[in-house]
Amino acid sequence: MKIISSLHVVLIIFIIFHKTVCNAQYNALTHYEDPSKELYLFDSTTEKDGTLLIQFAHYYEQPLNICIYPDIHLRIVYSDGTVKPLEVAHQIPDSNFCSLQVVFKNIFVNKNMILLTYFDGQNENTSMHTGMVIDFDGNLLQYLQFGVGIGRINRSKNPENGFTWSRQVNATTIAWSRYIPDHTNPKQILKSASGLIKSPNPSSVIKSYKLFSSGNGGNVFVIVTKLNKTIASDPAWEVYADFVDEVANENSLTYLIYQSQVDYFNLSFMYCRNSNGEGCSCLMQVEMVIPNQAATTKIYYLLTFLSSGSVINNKQIDMGAASNEILSISVLFNGGFLVIYPSENGRKAGIFLSHNGDYEGEWKGFNGDVIQYTYLEHNDTLWGMLYQNSSSSWTIITEPLRDRSILEKYKYNNPNILETTPFDDVVRDNLDTITIKYDKDIIPSYGNISIYQIQDNYNELLRQTYSGLSSYVTIMNDTVGIKILSSTFNQLGATYFIQINDNFVDSKLYGEPITGINKRVWFLNASLDNPGSCQSPVTMLLRFNAKGSKLLRSLNTEEFDKFYDDLMMEFSKIIPVERSRLPPDSGKFQNDPYNPNNFILLQVKITQPTKKLIRCAKDIAKDVNAMIINKYSTLMSHYPLSSMLDENYGAKTTPDGWDDALKLSLFYVIGGFLFVTCIYFIVRSRNKEARNAFVLTFTVLVSDFVLDMIFIIYNSQMIYSLFIPSVVFLVIPTVFNMIFTLFIILKEQSTNKDFQNWFMSNTKYVAILTILSSANVGLLNIITSQIGGLSHFDAPLSEEAKVLIFWGSLVNIFIEDVPQFITRIIFLQYNSVIYDPVPVLSLISAGISIIFGLICRGYDVFVLEIPFDFSGTNNNQLMKSVKNVITNIFRSQNISPNNSNST
Ligand SMILES: *[C@@H]1O[C@H](CO)[C@@H](O)[C@H](O)[C@H]1NC(C)=O
Ligand SMILES: *[C@@H]1O[C@H](CO)[C@@H](O)[C@H](O)[C@H]1NC(C)=O
Ligand SMILES: *[C@@H]1O[C@H](CO)[C@@H](O)[C@H](O)[C@H]1NC(C)=O
Ligand SMILES: *[C@@H]1O[C@H](CO)[C@@H](O)[C@H](O)[C@H]1NC(C)=O
Ligand SMILES: *[C@@H]1O[C@H](CO)[C@@H](O)[C@H](O)[C@H]1NC(C)=O
Ligand SMILES: *[C@@H]1O[C@H](CO)[C@@H](O)[C@H](O)[C@H]1NC(C)=O
Ligand SMILES: *[C@@H]1O[C@H](CO)[C@@H](O)[C@H](O)[C@H]1NC(C)=O
Ligand SMILES: *[C@@H]1O[C@H](CO)[C@@H](O)[C@H](O)[C@H]1NC(C)=O
Repeated sequence: MKIISSLHVVLIIFIIFHKTVCNAQYNALTHYEDPSKELYLFDSTTEKDGTLLIQFAHYYEQPLNICIYPDIHLRIVYSDGTVKPLEVAHQIPDSNFCSLQVVFKNIFVNKNMILLTYFDGQNENTSMHTGMVIDFDGNLLQYLQFGVGIGRINRSKNPENGFTWSRQVNATTIAWSRYIPDHTNPKQILKSASGLIKSPNPSSVIKSYKLFSSGNGGNVFVIVTKLNKTIASDPAWEVYADFVDEVANENSLTYLIYQSQVDYFNLSFMYCRNSNGEGCSCLMQVEMVIPNQAATTKIYYLLTFLSSGSVINNKQIDMGAASNEILSISVLFNGGFLVIYPSENGRKAGIFLSHNGDYEGEWKGFNGDVIQYTYLEHNDTLWGMLYQNSSSSWTIITEPLRDRSILEKYKYNNPNILETTPFDDVVRDNLDTITIKYDKDIIPSYGNISIYQIQDNYNELLRQTYSGLSSYVTIMNDTVGIKILSSTFNQLGATYFIQINDNFVDSKLYGEPITGINKRVWFLNASLDNPGSCQSPVTMLLRFNAKGSKLLRSLNTEEFDKFYDDLMMEFSKIIPVERSRLPPDSGKFQNDPYNPNNFILLQVKITQPTKKLIRCAKDIAKDVNAMIINKYSTLMSHYPLSSMLDENYGAKTTPDGWDDALKLSLFYVIGGFLFVTCIYFIVRSRNKEARNAFVLTFTVLVSDFVLDMIFIIYNSQMIYSLFIPSVVFLVIPTVFNMIFTLFIILKEQSTNKDFQNWFMSNTKYVAILTILSSANVGLLNIITSQIGGLSHFDAPLSEEAKVLIFWGSLVNIFIEDVPQFITRIIFLQYNSVIYDPVPVLSLISAGISIIFGLICRGYDVFVLEIPFDFSGTNNNQLMKSVKNVITNIFRSQNISPNNSNST
């Protein structure tokens, strides 16, 4: 009878329950399992996006035995309701399966990895807490050793910051270590930092601690310490906040945030969180013994403090019905709390508190058959696991809380962000600013905002990045504007996402960091104009900075080819563009003639796309320009070669550079020519008989010499194999000319009386001339030219000296002008990227020097009859006869000016 009636009761309860199920619009998911496996719920964990990881176990029969069979049965429940079973092959020691439930802690590390923890031994005082990392298919990726003893695992707010293992190792010390996914190999986890936190007051002991993420990606430890009281007035309880930086674990900052002289029975923290620009807030529970009773009463406070350590609020909270016993506290997406407490009939009831602790109403609760539950942030829902009355299936239910519009608000996973532009998240042409509106006034900070392009679903390509302090960021009260580089969204139809680091902006009121947006949350799609028809390939010029120019100068041809190829490989990734559109053979380089630092220009060609809907070459050139100019905000600064490009130059498309510069220098040359011609006519008007053409010779020889010097200093080092010959063919002729000039003058000095007299009255002038003649001994002729009828130019040189000058000048053509002409031609073959006046003019002047030299020497031979006019003892029969023959030929052809003058 008893049994029947109790069954009856159960049935009635069941019917009532069943009705509640329907009325409460429970969303239920039932999954069937192989009953022979005898699987019952063991543990569960939740990912922010609503994915659940549920561990099942086959328990031993005896109810008192907490052992389970040594198999790991995981079920991943995706938010769309699909269930993925994972039976994990493992080598976890059997003792773990007969230990306390806390041994297994499972967490999602990120969207690719799951961490299972266990104990590598029997003795919890000596064994290692160990992690086993698997992927979502159950494959083992890695083992991690955390430390001796069972610690806590707390995930960072941002999956890129991994998780922290921590454990109180003795009465005064907490040990911790941070683990993050490797940036380069996302399937690998690295230990990034570790440290010890000591009780700040050496005479107190640590009673408990809480660990949570700070606003800037680091950790905060809230440590409850109690003094070993000796004097009554000493404070008994002290609470410290210890801020551990994201990277530098050494310089953690410790602040006293609470102190009480009352010797409470207990003081502990229920929950701590970072509250987005308004500091950190913690729910503190104080237990006091009721006098004369064996019971305690509990009081709750909401303690709010800033990262500067200042406590801005410590407010007592009325927990109402929950004040006696609290089952759990969930921090809701809107910043408030759901406090769940046990109610009658095994039900779970709850109250809502606002973010500053005000009562906000009742939650209707769960029935007693919900045995495990967690808050789902992504749709403001609680999910719960129902009691399994058989191993053939399990059922989870979801119960929406209050916030009906959560899906819209949850778009950025960030309750502080209200809206963004473009409103529809579609990028069109000429988008130059993106705006983000926050729920409070903000000020800029040092965190970055970055835009990535998704490639092949998995890879991400950085398009632009800069910090909140950059000049590209504009802030107007609660709205931040972000400049978009013209190169950022350059692929038609591609998908991008925006990542905002914590600390990109701070709240204006408190100066506290505001949480950002994780990767792959806020997506943008590019709906750019169709590129249409592309006209022609593009040749562009890039400039290297000092480091790059130095490197380029040191390369030989082979090394340069490799350099160019590597650079094009980098470009194809950075821009991005097909590698085949950057042909390998177009790499030419030269000094930038207009740059005072003498940086090197490189010529790069981009060919047209073969397919439609792909960016035209000219648009790619524009992208390259924008990316180089904003090098520190783009990938250009991340690669070894492209990082050496000159951001002050960008990328210029040729050939505009040739035209204007060429015109300009032609203008100068013509101007110079006219000037010299004027001088020629002036001096000619003064003395028609003089060798007035010598004005031209002089101009040509001197400008040739000057250009040679400039060429060696600025240009010749570009091509290493040309440098030495260029120097040699300047130094040897110069030395030759100098010695030869001195020789002639000294010789005249000692043998020619007339010259001696002339020399006396022109000493300074001769000194200058000697130096000038180092350029070309032919310049000595000027002192006999009689130009302008000046006595300076009317030196009585002996015939012998004239002969020497003749031969010296002739030799010059072959040791100076011809080699220079050849080196200039070779140089220009490799360095005609952009018009550079120095080598071009140097080539022209070398050419003119040769022609002038030949004409003048011809004139010397055939008109002045210099080389054969040997005086004194140097009679040479052969030369004389040659002279006679040649002069006769000339006379008969009437070429000599003397003849033409007379006719
Ligand atoms: C919330 O998400 C869970 C899983 O992610 C889903 O099962 C449930 O139906 C959602 N609830 C609402 C109200 O959308
Ligand atoms: C571990 O250490 C604690 C205290 O130091 C001790 O009470 C406990 O028995 C030890 N456990 C084992 C398995 O040795
Ligand atoms: C940290 O981890 C422990 C257990 O590993 C858990 O009880 C606690 O709630 C976590 N703290 C936070 C803030 O998530
Ligand atoms: C607590 O542990 C730390 C680190 O292992 C050690 O340096 C310290 O001396 C220990 N303190 C006590 C009181 O055992
Ligand atoms: C606290 O103080 C008492 C007496 O002064 C001492 O015996 C005891 O060891 C101290 N406890 C700790 C944990 O320091
Ligand atoms: C005090 O609170 C902490 C944290 O909740 C708990 O671990 C500890 O057992 C409590 N102490 C007492 C004496 O109840
Ligand atoms: C228990 O089993 C019965 C019959 O299989 C099923 O109808 C009922 O829903 C189960 N109860 C729960 C709480 O799962
Ligand atoms: C920004 O704040 C100032 C001062 O509070 C106010 O005068 C101004 O209208 C605000 N601007 C916008 C765009 O809201």
